[in-house]
Amino acid sequence: LDEPRKMTGIIPTVGSPELLLHRGCVLIQGTHLPHEVDQIRDLEIRDSDVFVVTFPKSGTIWMQQILLLLQSKGDVERISKTDKFSNGDVVPWIEVKGQVHKFVKAESPRFRVTHLPYTFMPIALSHKKGKVIYVARNPKDVLVSFYHFHKLAMMLETPRSFGDFFDKFLKGEVMGGSWFEHVKSWFSHKDDLNMLFIMYEEMVQDLTAAVRRIAEFLDIELTQDQLQNVVKHSTFKNMRKIPQANYEQVPGDLLDHHQGSFMRKGITGDWKNHFTAAQNQQFDEVFNREMKDFPVSFTWDIS
Ligand code: A3P
Repeated sequence: LDEPRKMTGIIPTVGSPELLLHRGCVLIQGTHLPHEVDQIRDLEIRDSDVFVVTFPKSGTIWMQQILLLLQSKGDVERISKTDKFSNGDVVPWIEVKGQVHKFVKAESPRFRVTHLPYTFMPIALSHKKGKVIYVARNPKDVLVSFYHFHKLAMMLETPRSFGDFFDKFLKGEVMGGSWFEHVKSWFSHKDDLNMLFIMYEEMVQDLTAAVRRIAEFLDIELTQDQLQNVVKHSTFKNMRKIPQANYEQVPGDLLDHHQGSFMRKGITGDWKNHFTAAQNQQFDEVFNREMKDFPVSFTWDIS
């Protein structure tokens, strides 16, 4: 853990595409092309562009749904009647193969999500062009959610055991790299960007307040009814019923729906059902060391 992380190379996996270590960032062979990921830095950014930045399993598809609903002023019919498989086709990951090219040609407003660390993102964002919403989630729950997602996602290796995945997560040998580096790299540039920093736990606790904050940040005006509709159609219970939002239509060669569901539990604190006391202690040691100078106190229940 204390060794400096190698900048490039391969992280071996079993029975799935390899993970590529590309200039300190962990990508999936085939899903991501390093030369395209490198083009993102120089993209021209419009003031209306919005990037949702997350470490995987921190609420990415939740934010896709909220952005689309804000844009349609809470009209769920408008966002559901599409021939797309999922909201991810409408609010794509900028780093996925072929997306850089599409981004350049897309009409405004361009809503995108990304798991990339700060150093890979468009330089123009640091000149306060466009907007960034960073969603952070308790890394213990991220770890648990990611573990289950690995069983579902065909492009990610099926973990040998929870313990094995736990070690990889702490070493940053998972797609997205180190949770600690991710949140620190983005947060340290908060003042250079038009950035809203929001926590998954806040959204679970008071979705109305969270949606209001997001709408204000994006300068989207809503009536009280419209706001209530955005909230209503972005609750876990309701998103589970919306095919584009729950990812059930994503083809079986990407997600094996027999192994579980993308919309798994949607709760806080599920790590308590998975971590042993020793794992919890080990995690806390790493967390406390890595995050000791982090200026924000997290609202979640870490221990
Ligand atoms: P769990 O596996 O803990 O249930 P991402 O979209 O970044 O991959 O994150 C997926 C996680 O967000 C999953 O967590 C999923 O259930 C949760 N999620 C998605 N929509 C949600 C919602 N409306 N409310 C709460 N959690 C949600």
